[in-house]
Amino acid sequence: MDFSFLPKYYMYFVDGARITLILSFFTVILGVALGIFIALMRMSSIWPLKAFATSYIEFIRGTPLLVQLFLIYYGLPQIGIRFPELPGFGSAFPDFMGAVLALSINSSAYVAEVFRAGIQAIDKGQMEAARSLGLSHAMAMRHIILPQALRNVLPALGNEFIVVIKESSIASVIGIGELMYKADTVRGNTFQPFGPLIVAAIVYFIITFTLSKLLGVAERRMRTSD
Ligand code: ARG
Repeated sequence: MDFSFLPKYYMYFVDGARITLILSFFTVILGVALGIFIALMRMSSIWPLKAFATSYIEFIRGTPLLVQLFLIYYGLPQIGIRFPELPGFGSAFPDFMGAVLALSINSSAYVAEVFRAGIQAIDKGQMEAARSLGLSHAMAMRHIILPQALRNVLPALGNEFIVVIKESSIASVIGIGELMYKADTVRGNTFQPFGPLIVAAIVYFIITFTLSKLLGVAERRMRTSD
């Protein structure tokens, strides 16, 4: 195996890792926000909301992320929705937004189920006590149920972050310059099909392993403060 490309090309991997992290960060924020929203709709007693949320979750989980990414990337412009180009970045920003949107829509379906489980695991008495103290259903949800649910679901959300980092490699197919894309660039430039992939795999692993260790620490902290 030949890693002689590294001295000349290592910055490609550093850059790629940076974009991977930025992409995943925005995806997780949007995905969690959207996921909570869908979870609440899913548990709503208003049936159109419930039906929409259920179909959304089933559809997203039942179709490949790659297809969803293409549907958004090529489909949104077809119906006249375009993200603005930032001066100096060409189409990089709209492309990036397409990737964030596709990834976070995908993630939100999984996050929604995580939250539903987390909310349903809270004892019914919590809601009953809150309501009997005069809180509305929405207030009780926001101030009593969600904060407790959030703590229960943090480990699962951490896992989702790790999944998102790995799944973000799919964004390379629409030309987002993240880690996988950069590895492909190095493969092309050096005519070495294998070595750059090993480097990319190692960098992904360093990121996800570090994150999972950090999450483990956070989880233990929370347990002791319980
Ligand atoms: N690889 C899966 C797909 O192609 C996406 C899985 C996403 N999972 C998740 N927990 N966000 O559809």
